[in-house]
Amino acid sequence: MFEFSQLAVPIVQAPMAGGLNTPQLAAAVANAGGVGSFGFAYTRADKIAADLAKTRALTQGPINANFFVFQPVESPSKKVLASALQALSELPLEVSGELVIPTSPFFPDLEQQLDAVWAHPPEILTFHFGLPSSALIHSAHSKGICVGVSATNKEEGTAIEKSGADFIVAQGIEAGGHRGIFDPLACDSELPMADLVKQLVDATTLPIVAAGGLMTGQEIGGAIDLGAAAVQMGTAFLCCEEAGTSATYRQMLLSKEGRNTVYTSGFSGRRAQGIENQFIRLMENKPTLAFPIQNTLTGPIRKQANVDNDPEYQSLWAGRGYAKSRSMPVSELMQVLQSEMEQF
Ligand SMILES: Cc1cc2nc3c(=O)[nH]c(=O)nc-3n(C[C@H](O)[C@H](O)[C@H](O)COP(=O)(O)O)c2cc1C
Repeated sequence: MFEFSQLAVPIVQAPMAGGLNTPQLAAAVANAGGVGSFGFAYTRADKIAADLAKTRALTQGPINANFFVFQPVESPSKKVLASALQALSELPLEVSGELVIPTSPFFPDLEQQLDAVWAHPPEILTFHFGLPSSALIHSAHSKGICVGVSATNKEEGTAIEKSGADFIVAQGIEAGGHRGIFDPLACDSELPMADLVKQLVDATTLPIVAAGGLMTGQEIGGAIDLGAAAVQMGTAFLCCEEAGTSATYRQMLLSKEGRNTVYTSGFSGRRAQGIENQFIRLMENKPTLAFPIQNTLTGPIRKQANVDNDPEYQSLWAGRGYAKSRSMPVSELMQVLQSEMEQF
């Protein structure tokens, strides 16, 4: 079974749902000595199978398939739906009139998605937003697949250890994308990555993968010094030429405008961190539907903004270190990160 000690470079390219991970990106990272990942949260089984098969044809290195642990969600009441639709219809956009009200099932069936994984087994399977069932962990282990789960605090970390999973992704508040906290209604301690890594190294015996705001080799060295077995970096790979990132999204990551990153629930119904834009500002304190119904509802807005090259109405998920983004092929970025680590 996969172990972090076998990596030539202790870097996991983060799973990033929404078409950003490509077979070319994952394979290039794995071929350069790290782990290449896919965020398959919303992906259909046939596409998962195709992506995994294509990646395996490009690399024998370690691949990670990542899924969300969706909580059951009820259809919104008429009143809740009306207020969420009202909030979106007030946006200065034509597409708001074309919004389609999502119907059940609100998220893909994990069992079906996993059939594609078992048919094209990756080395690693990871989960965000909670624990997978013990039966699932057992199935993965019986197939020689190593299992990891994201934690945002010590309690989640110890629950992951008890579940029988093999490693913990310590997601600090600096991280881009969705906050992996198990209970989205619980008070979030918002621990910075370094504090969380130290707490998890002390409280558990599992390997810890540090995630959140890491963009340079020096920063990787710092996380490893705290006891992390590896790091998980998402934003740092978004401007690699192999990534599925759109031209507008890349421009925003590389722009010298100096916009802040903020957390918003406006796009999906769960807190996620990205570069601040008009949508986030206008949706502040506005009613939203539960995750992931809000994500489906805002889909046409984000899609249209993408077609229009409009950065103001699409989700520009990014960690707090995004200003250090570098635009280069994966092989070059991995070399630069390695040489920076050596200087640490
Ligand atoms: C665009 C984007 C999408 C993400 N999607 C996922 C996902 O599908 N699954 C997951 O476990 N983490 C996801 N994350 C979070 C990453 O796993 C990781 O915590 C984060 O990238 C680390 O912070 P950084 O972006 O500053 O490197 C995403 C992050 C980004 C930037």
